[in-house]
Amino acid sequence: MRSLLFAANWKMHLGPADTRAYMSTFLAEYQERPDRQVWFFPPAVSLETVSTAVRGRASMLAGAQDIYWEPKGAFTGAISGPLAAQAGARAALVGHSERRHVFGETDADTGRKVAAALSADLYPVLCVGETLAQRDAGDTLKVVTRQLEAALPPPGRVDPRLTIAYEPVWAIGTGRNATPKDAAEVHRAIRSWLKDRAAGQTRILYGGSVNLKNAAELLAERELDGVLVGGASLDPHGWAELVRTGVA
Ligand code: 13P
Repeated sequence: MRSLLFAANWKMHLGPADTRAYMSTFLAEYQERPDRQVWFFPPAVSLETVSTAVRGRASMLAGAQDIYWEPKGAFTGAISGPLAAQAGARAALVGHSERRHVFGETDADTGRKVAAALSADLYPVLCVGETLAQRDAGDTLKVVTRQLEAALPPPGRVDPRLTIAYEPVWAIGTGRNATPKDAAEVHRAIRSWLKDRAAGQTRILYGGSVNLKNAAELLAERELDGVLVGGASLDPHGWAELVRTGVA
């Protein structure tokens, strides 16, 4: 059975009270299925609310949108892997395009964060993707490979707890998704990079303007192991429907 991962990145939306209402609606509308996993990435203040709501549901978990690589200390405003885990997180996004482009996170930072997530026993979801200028210059694969190499440097094999999310920057929040064919081409390149590191089983998600209208078409492409969704995950009814999306 093909198993799919549906990841919701709420970004800077839904505090604890909104999250309680969201989770009660979502859980009332969505029946767990063995071939679907649903991962929620709420803002840090709502992690504990999500993790409490999904407790006992094997196919669901809560994850942090970002972690700092030091485990503790004088780092005002940051949360560490162990702190996120204490709030119930079991996964962490690393290197999301907004972290890279709004907050100036570097490739080197993503490497430290992947390692920090693993040492806190969190599943890292490493986000990679090119800007429009890089795509137009024909540099997509070069950029994505550079991001992979920086975040997952040798020595050692790629950890099986890792997930990759391919999110082209030009498709995020723009309403312009990559076509299934374009996404598949990049996924194939990422998979071949991973295969060379004995990690061909690593899940690769697509993200960027995924919504109820295009999810089935995107997921019909077998290179996609799931989706990472921003805007269309903010409404619990729509998200429940999206996670139920029938796939050919
Ligand atoms: P949108 O689905 O809103 O385009 O955001 C994608 C994203 O950045 C998910 O991490």
